[in-house]
Amino acid sequence: MEFSWFWLTTIAFFLAIPLLHRLRSVNNKKKKLPPSPKGLPILGHLHMLGKNPHQDLYTIAKEHGPIVFMRFGWVPHIVVSSNKSAELFLKTHDLVFASRPPHQAAEIMSWGQKNLSFGKYGPYWRSMRKLCTLELLSTLKINSFQPMRKEELGLFVESLKLSCRGKAAVDLSAKISSLTAEMSCRMVFGKKYEDKDMGGRGFKSVIEEGMKLAALPNLGDYFPFLGIFDLQGFKSKMKKIAKAYDDFFEKVIDEHVNGAAEAADRADGKARDIVDTLMSIMQSGDAEFQFDRGHVKAIMLDMLAASMDTAASTVEWILALLIKNPKVMKKVQEELEQVVGLERMVEESDLDQLKYLDMVVKETFRLHPVAPLLIPHYSTEDCTVNGYHIPKESRVIVNTHAIGRDPNVWARPNEFFPERFVGSEIDLRGQHFELLPFGSGRRGCPGMQLGLIQVRLIVSQLVHCFDWKLPEGMLPEELDMTEEFSLVVSRANPLIAIPTFRLRD
Ligand code: HEM
Repeated sequence: MEFSWFWLTTIAFFLAIPLLHRLRSVNNKKKKLPPSPKGLPILGHLHMLGKNPHQDLYTIAKEHGPIVFMRFGWVPHIVVSSNKSAELFLKTHDLVFASRPPHQAAEIMSWGQKNLSFGKYGPYWRSMRKLCTLELLSTLKINSFQPMRKEELGLFVESLKLSCRGKAAVDLSAKISSLTAEMSCRMVFGKKYEDKDMGGRGFKSVIEEGMKLAALPNLGDYFPFLGIFDLQGFKSKMKKIAKAYDDFFEKVIDEHVNGAAEAADRADGKARDIVDTLMSIMQSGDAEFQFDRGHVKAIMLDMLAASMDTAASTVEWILALLIKNPKVMKKVQEELEQVVGLERMVEESDLDQLKYLDMVVKETFRLHPVAPLLIPHYSTEDCTVNGYHIPKESRVIVNTHAIGRDPNVWARPNEFFPERFVGSEIDLRGQHFELLPFGSGRRGCPGMQLGLIQVRLIVSQLVHCFDWKLPEGMLPEELDMTEEFSLVVSRANPLIAIPTFRLRD
């Protein structure tokens, strides 16, 4: 971490935090808080989090139970690690926990937390969510981008076919990430942008840096009074990223305003991109809240950031698990041969028939949910859950990584075994708390349908069109599966493999 604990301790001491904190905990101790590991003065439990907090919190839950009270710096956190407790927070008491905590990164980089993902619960967020669900992420809208997805996947398969000729190893992680970035770009902006288009630093890398900054442990969030000092230097980095976003999105909006006639043409036949749709809502004045360029920009960022990396990382994990488990790979390919045949590529209309693939997707989400701690929820009032006092203004972290590996729910939880879902009712859409890759309740993912189409389509195309071998005689069981934590958890090391084309040309 980029700061010194010594300085932190000194500053906090002089600001008399210990005394204030004592007063506060004495007050809470009168009520029954959830169990808590032993913490340190001032830091609380911050020192217990390492590079992969979802794994650390899972270890803590094994010792202290499914509802744990922790204090990161000055801020109370409730860590929820079982299906039954997740149901209490996300269903039974959903309304109390439907808000998001103050978050310096979102404040600086998302136009004052005006966006959907970090927006505080209230009438503004509700209207914004309605607008996004009905106008941007409806089935109709998602289907309107089907030809674009087909075209992009066609180009993707062609470029992989070229690698087959030289029997060259391919950086699948990089390829998949470019594919989903290009799909998201075309969906949101209506066209692809090049690297020079975001301050010369590369569109994808700026978005990724922003997401990384948003996920780093930020002292400004844990000790709000330290925010102004910017001890870690995060704030100035965030401001630079925010400026890059703002300049770029302003340019995109101007291009759309200038090309309004084109947009009207597109309305008549071809898909209207998300900026077109947002601009017409802004100009019509039909939104239920004041809707200006700031809102358009905040939603653009939400749609891009939420769709690019989530789908890419999920596809990467599925492919890695399939390559690691050749028998499962063979079964997925056999299903595809039956449903699609070897004469053509997969179409979106085939997806509903791919039942075994669905089990593989569920099993991958169980072992590697890409947003394992969801986005933090926030209690807007005191509440009693399972007999425990949950103070107002606690951050609630639901650890789906822990839930997916809970031996009370899953037999042989560390094994990749898609057949466990044969005859099982457990689905991943937020009704079954054993499997929550998209969250559940009011704050559950509104892009789930789109995310699932992208993931199933890309995976099925990759394994239908190609056989995959690891390079340099590496055995499947040797494939490294280390995770790297950020807002989206991806593979720490890229997935490299050699494709062989398997369709009849
Ligand atoms: C595989 C793909 C995806 C996964 C696994 C995923 C997962 C999630 C998760 C876990 C949350 C947090 C839920 C919570 O805090 O309770 C979330 C929220 C969100 N997702 Fe997704 N997501 C995916 C794709 C998408 C796509 C394609 C979009 C839109 C284009 C999207 C838009 C959002 C938004 C706007 C939120 C914030 C919702 C709110 O706070 O009200 N997601 N997603």
